[in-house]
Amino acid sequence: MIKIAFVASEAIPYAKTGGLADVAGTLPKVLEKLGCEVKLFIPKYFTIDESKFNLKYNWNIGEIPIMVAGHIRSVHVLQSKLPGSNVEVNFIDCPHYFHRAHFYTNDIDEDERFILFSKAVIVALQHFNWRPDIIHCNDWQTGLIPLLLKDNYSWDNLFKNTSTIFTIHNIGYQGKFSKETLTKAQINERYFYPMGPVEFYNDVSFMKAGISFADIITTVSRTYAREILTPDYGAGMENILLQRKEDLYGIINGVDYTMWNPETDKQIPFNYTLNSLSEKAKNKEYLLKQFGMPFKKETPLIGIVSRIVEQKGFDIFAEVINSLLNLNAQWIVLGSGEDKFEDLIRWLVNHYPEKVGAHIMFSDILSHLIEAGSDMFLMPSRYEPCGLNQIYSLKYGTVPIVRNTGGLADTVRDWHYSELSYDNRGTGFSFDSFTGNALLDTVKRAIKTFGDKTTWRRIQTNGMNKNFSWEPSAQEYIKLYKYVIGK
Ligand code: ADP
Ligand code: GLC
Repeated sequence: MIKIAFVASEAIPYAKTGGLADVAGTLPKVLEKLGCEVKLFIPKYFTIDESKFNLKYNWNIGEIPIMVAGHIRSVHVLQSKLPGSNVEVNFIDCPHYFHRAHFYTNDIDEDERFILFSKAVIVALQHFNWRPDIIHCNDWQTGLIPLLLKDNYSWDNLFKNTSTIFTIHNIGYQGKFSKETLTKAQINERYFYPMGPVEFYNDVSFMKAGISFADIITTVSRTYAREILTPDYGAGMENILLQRKEDLYGIINGVDYTMWNPETDKQIPFNYTLNSLSEKAKNKEYLLKQFGMPFKKETPLIGIVSRIVEQKGFDIFAEVINSLLNLNAQWIVLGSGEDKFEDLIRWLVNHYPEKVGAHIMFSDILSHLIEAGSDMFLMPSRYEPCGLNQIYSLKYGTVPIVRNTGGLADTVRDWHYSELSYDNRGTGFSFDSFTGNALLDTVKRAIKTFGDKTTWRRIQTNGMNKNFSWEPSAQEYIKLYKYVIGK
């Protein structure tokens, strides 16, 4: 039985800002179902409700001292089971670092928070005396673990046969800190030199450390795995990735269809299937009402649920906003992020209340309602490692309009734009060039097609019949685990 310590900075149902949480809260369960033994590790953020999730203090371990930035911090482990599974969840609790307003901060000790987390995971494993075959790390917050294991903790035989996997969910967030971070983390200075394994333009990068020291690197779609080897998408990491190209794999994320299925979704008022799409229209009516907008059956409703940041293409959206507003469509936006885009969206809602509705916030229930009630779903991302909302959209008969990049390219098939896609198998609409005009043309194309009920129904059917469940992807991870264990 493969033993996996799965380490991430967020996981549903406890803490979520984006897709990483969906992955970290679901993949471990599926791995367990497929015969692995999995322990999940996440920080115990202030907002994680101890009684709701029945977290228990681990008295066998008690308080463990962890040294960060020259101070000994006291850490303990709270434990629970991932709902619907036997996966043990370990919450690393250190109020000094994790009891803050947000999971991620710009505080001056942001580096220390995840140094502590990474060290505490390793020390907790020692206290459990549990010998993982694999430590599966995710994104920069866990990037130091492979290095710590290979160097600082190499004395411990417990990890003699432990391999590390580092999954990149987003190369745009690199965990960059000044050189002092080396001392704070007790990282050997010999790794810090120009172009060296932890050095990134004179700073320390946790992401680069993960890429340099992990035995295997993965990312969350095949296309993104290719893209990040290029200067346009590598965000400066392309060279180190090229050096490790042989060890880089792309595995597409799956979906937990027990949560994201219009037939059974408990968070939407009207459940539906392919054969009862009239119920979908009722969700639309309900959704528009929630946003104080008039219901117009024949006018397509375009939904957006997103972190409102440049990555997601809001700059090209803003560029053509006037033309978009002239189209016969209504818009609903859910999300929060950069001020300039939030301000634009608020302005739109104020000036076009019948056309644009928005909630600048994070709301799980609204995200489900928007998936169920919208006719189309827009994701014009500059880059998209995987993207989950477009995959949810397919299942909800909510036709995705996406830029052809990363996981969007791997999951959405364009309807009849190029000759190549003229096969009636399309599931959405996509465009290549990252420009406002390409976005505008594609939205126009979707709206025009919406008018043709038979074709629209066909596109919805194609999408709703798609299956992106986790099992095949989890199998691919298991194959990699076995490969690296045998190496
Ligand atoms: P990313 O991880 O880059 O933000 P993904 O598409 O992979 O993008 O995942 C985003 C996840 O977060 C989805 O599950 C989506 O429904 C959810 N999400 C994003 N913004 C919000 C929001 N404002 N409210 C609720 N859920 C949100
Ligand atoms: C990141 C990416 C997103 C991906 C998610 C889960 O946040 O931006 O594309 O789906 O991680 O892997």
